[in-house]
Amino acid sequence: MTTTKIKKLNPFIINYLGTKYRESIQHFEGDDIDFNKYKSFVEPFGGTFGFSRYIYMKLNKPTDKKFIIYDNDKELITFYNNIKGMTKEEYEELHNKYNEIVNKYDEEEWHKNGFNIIRELKGTIEDKNINFMIVLNNKPNMISRKCNKKANMEWFDMFKYCEFKYMNVVNEYEYITTTHNTKDTIIYLDPPYINNCNEQYADVNIDYSEFIINCFINKKKSNVIFVHERNFLLLHILNKYLYKSYDKLYPLRQRKKIHNVFMKYKV
Ligand SMILES: C[S@@+](CC[C@H](N)C(=O)[O-])C[C@H]1O[C@@H](n2cnc3c(N)ncnc32)[C@H](O)[C@@H]1O
Repeated sequence: MTTTKIKKLNPFIINYLGTKYRESIQHFEGDDIDFNKYKSFVEPFGGTFGFSRYIYMKLNKPTDKKFIIYDNDKELITFYNNIKGMTKEEYEELHNKYNEIVNKYDEEEWHKNGFNIIRELKGTIEDKNINFMIVLNNKPNMISRKCNKKANMEWFDMFKYCEFKYMNVVNEYEYITTTHNTKDTIIYLDPPYINNCNEQYADVNIDYSEFIINCFINKKKSNVIFVHERNFLLLHILNKYLYKSYDKLYPLRQRKKIHNVFMKYKV
């Protein structure tokens, strides 16, 4: 099977700043990792499953791969499962309706008054999926509330090969590492960063260190990729798994931070 050179822009229905779609291009394009050898790609900290989406495009929209996405955001998982249950026409309609509502306000209005607009809209829109998109795409750390003019059917097609599961994976890490303990699996870990995300994730246990150690140090068969901002302790412990370091640009604050990609990869 041939692989494809990835187009940089391929907007998803959710505009999430932390997406690993673009970053995966930066991490893996040009390297000779043969992702095609693997059957399943698991993202315990799913978000917009940017790594899985990268793999899907990289491998030319394969029909023989599985993408398993976990998240402890119940609404997010429900939203994805709703999309999975839609027809092509329903998905396009969702996309168009969302655009229609959002484009009633111009950029400046959104910028100045975004939170009030959302509050107003929330009371008037019955469609739960559109409500979810409006709220999620307008959180302070989101780039923009705009969708592409046209719905991206490539992502819609990918949903057929995805499973979305609601779970607190920090509490269930044994389950995750045991269930996906096969050599044809890649587990991709992109958790909230230790020390940095305390506010955003105030109500959840973010001590996933045991999970990470369990993935890397014990004798599990699965392959693991783990992305984290530079942290001395992690670098020290996972030193032999360091695959790449890169400068990550945070566009809102226009500042760069060093990030590390660790990889336990069996050829
Ligand atoms: C840094 S984001 C992942 C971004 C993702 N790689 C992407 O491309 O969009 C972290 C995600 O982990 C989820 N999360 C945080 N704590 C979790 C937990 N204990 N169990 C499962 N998911 C969790 C958050 O809801 C968020 O979607």
